[in-house]
Amino acid sequence: MANELKIPRHIAFIMDGNGRWAAQRGLQRSDGHRAGAEALKNMLDACSEQGIEVVTVYAFSCENWSRPQSEIKFLFSLISKFAKKELQNYADRGYRVMFSGDLTQLPQSTKNAIKKVMDYSKNNTGMIVNIALNYGARQEIVRAVNMILQSGIRNIDEQMFEDCLYTAGLPQLDLIVRSSGEKRLSNFMLWQCAYSELIFLDKYWPDFDKDTLIEILKEYSSRDRRFGGIK
Ligand code: FPP
Repeated sequence: MANELKIPRHIAFIMDGNGRWAAQRGLQRSDGHRAGAEALKNMLDACSEQGIEVVTVYAFSCENWSRPQSEIKFLFSLISKFAKKELQNYADRGYRVMFSGDLTQLPQSTKNAIKKVMDYSKNNTGMIVNIALNYGARQEIVRAVNMILQSGIRNIDEQMFEDCLYTAGLPQLDLIVRSSGEKRLSNFMLWQCAYSELIFLDKYWPDFDKDTLIEILKEYSSRDRRFGGIK
């Protein structure tokens, strides 16, 4: 059918604009992040309803450590709570929760919370929720190179390289969506984005809802993906 939506197997969100959403309403940045967490829940539900297999979200970049301590502390406390309650709830419903990034640097309480839900859900076969946390794409690539060097292998192919990324084993990244009108990737999934479609929306992340996902899927469905070939 001409109007049928094409569903990406793997979608990623750069959840931008929480701070501006809050400022617009005379609220604190922390209120914006709280509203962002609510939007994330709605988005995960909407993606699951649409049959998307993997949702990756950029929750905290390696560069976000340059933010004020108070905001960093708030974000990790929010993420820990989200892991204990919401992600646990998703895990109970059969979703697999995983994380991409250097988790060794996180506060101990966050490490405990995310390890618990990751271990609990590791054999689940439902939608995969992949949270990029203390994540940077350049750091991920350098880490992969070091893994290869340490293994002593002197000649690799693309598959071997991909197997050393956090996203090893996941379907190719079909679509990256960024909120808030910024049109850049900000050190996100730089290897994986090779043939991803890119969608930039003006609305701030806390305003993303189920209708936004439909809007995104309509736009994605209209794209002609040729992967360098011709039709
Ligand atoms: C960027 O927007 C957003 C972040 C650095 C944090 C993203 C975090 C959430 C959506 C909170 C919930 C996440 C989880 C996993 C529970 P910004 O705040 O820098 O926006 P601004 O550019 O308008 O200031």
